[in-house]
Amino acid sequence: MLLILLGAPGSGKGTISKELATKECFEHISTGNIFRNLAKQQTEFANNMKKRLDSGLLIDNQTTWEIVLDSFKWINFEIEDIILDGFPRNIVQYKHISKYLIDNQIAYKFLYFKISDEEVIERLNNRLYCPLCNRTYNKLNLKPNREWYCDDDNTELLQRKDDQLDSIQRRLDIYKKDTYPIIELIKDKKFFIEISADKDFQKIYSNVKEKIFDV
Ligand code: AP5
Ligand code: MG
Repeated sequence: MLLILLGAPGSGKGTISKELATKECFEHISTGNIFRNLAKQQTEFANNMKKRLDSGLLIDNQTTWEIVLDSFKWINFEIEDIILDGFPRNIVQYKHISKYLIDNQIAYKFLYFKISDEEVIERLNNRLYCPLCNRTYNKLNLKPNREWYCDDDNTELLQRKDDQLDSIQRRLDIYKKDTYPIIELIKDKKFFIEISADKDFQKIYSNVKEKIFDV
């Protein structure tokens, strides 16, 4: 099964993905994580990518689709459970993935994390992440056991450049303008599942599990 996660920045897509990967053996493909890794290289391409990521702007559709296709290369969709987190983010990207799903007869569900802007801003302002394993934490809740260090690999935690207020606002605007129309388009389809994402993490996780293994 392929689970495709939709939702505003900070709605908890990465946090739920990490839990499903650890506990239910899902393979987690995150376009944001792939781009952040690519942006570490010392090339002009990587530098340009880093500037766009830091300011909260999207990467172009062609580059993004090539990266998604590349990450699908090693996957056997008949036997593996996969999470696609961060794609699609606009109608062009939705058309790319829809055609691919039909052409390759892949079973899939879209999981939409619904959340308020106020909750997003508070969460992202307080987010920490592990640059080694990409696990996310929060200074207010979901704290690491040892302050500023990852529970899984003891790496020092960082804050994302795009978690500053101006970038958060830009990402929210882009989400509303470009990504939300996908939700409008598919909200009545059988493969669409809505999750209330402004609850306690454990409640959200059990809700997600119930919905994905049950429907
Ligand atoms: P990406 O990395 O996908 O960022 P995003 O969509 O902005 O989402 P986030 O990772 O910020 O939020 P999340 O939903 O994963 O929340 P999280 O679990 O971390 O993309 C980054 C950039 O890459 C884009 O801006 C763009 O430039 C580029 N990009 C990526 N995909 C692209 C595409 N398809 N096309 C073009 N460009 C693309 O949680 C957030 C915080 O909340 C954490 O602190 C967490 O601990 C906390 N939290 C989580 N759940 C709860 C809870 N239930 N209660 C309280 N706190 C919680
Ligand atoms: Mg994320």
